[in-house]
Amino acid sequence: MAKIVGAITTSHVPAIGGAIAKGLQNEPYWKPFFDGFPPVRDWLAKVKPDVIVLVYNDHGLNFFLDKMPTFAVGAAPEYRNADEGWGIPTVAPFKGDPELSWHLIEQLVAEDFDLVTCQEMVVDHAFTLPMALCYPDTNWPVRVVPVCVNTVQAPLPSAARCYKLGQAIGRAIAKWPGDERVVVMGTGGLSHQLDGERAGFINKDFDLKFMDSMVHEPAWATRYSTTELVELSGTQGVELLNWMVARGTLPAKVEKKHANYYIPISNTASGLMVLEPAA
Ligand code: DHB
Ligand code: FE
Repeated sequence: MAKIVGAITTSHVPAIGGAIAKGLQNEPYWKPFFDGFPPVRDWLAKVKPDVIVLVYNDHGLNFFLDKMPTFAVGAAPEYRNADEGWGIPTVAPFKGDPELSWHLIEQLVAEDFDLVTCQEMVVDHAFTLPMALCYPDTNWPVRVVPVCVNTVQAPLPSAARCYKLGQAIGRAIAKWPGDERVVVMGTGGLSHQLDGERAGFINKDFDLKFMDSMVHEPAWATRYSTTELVELSGTQGVELLNWMVARGTLPAKVEKKHANYYIPISNTASGLMVLEPAA
């Protein structure tokens, strides 16, 4: 039986790619952010995942506003990174796991999640930068299954629906007959808003409460509508829906192995957590 050994939740910001390319990790602006990641890498070296199920939102590279699936799952043998226009260097392709992807898709559709299935898919910074932070040599030692959530264009799936999707992914992985060790990653958030009158909006109180809820009260954010979540966390802060999916894959009781929170990275309050199923 495949096993979820833990989850990593982290922000994704294009400027991180620029900082890596320029070697700015130890600059005062960046150091508190990058210093969050050595403990994550130590943890990964210990839990040794074979597969990462990576829950993120596409920013117009693979899906655009004309075609916007609520939930999409990759089922490709390989996922390439392409230039999104931020000017950050692209990274090596990621090896997929089509068999596990199709198992997930079949199980999720059987549980009434009507997914878009993607046998070809390019991946953007929300996928590649968290991977590069976890594996800085970008010589990926894992296979990947991308899960894309629409956090971009209304109507968005509710936090409750995202949490339930995570729970269904957890059940599907538990049913997979292989002996893979799986880490689920959720990327995006925490509070930020890039557009409109509130551009630059950050809500530290909400972020810290949300991070605490990941450990102690995982369904906490489901009390809010997506409109309320946008009000509380910003038009892009609502990417925290990807954290809800990742959290849903873990049991109710978890152990926090690591966390970091730092303001700002570009326009974003950056959050980072490593959670394991409680012993
Ligand atoms: C920024 C944050 C994001 O989540 C994103 O997708 C693009 C830009 C930012 O803070 O600059
Ligand atoms: Fe984003």
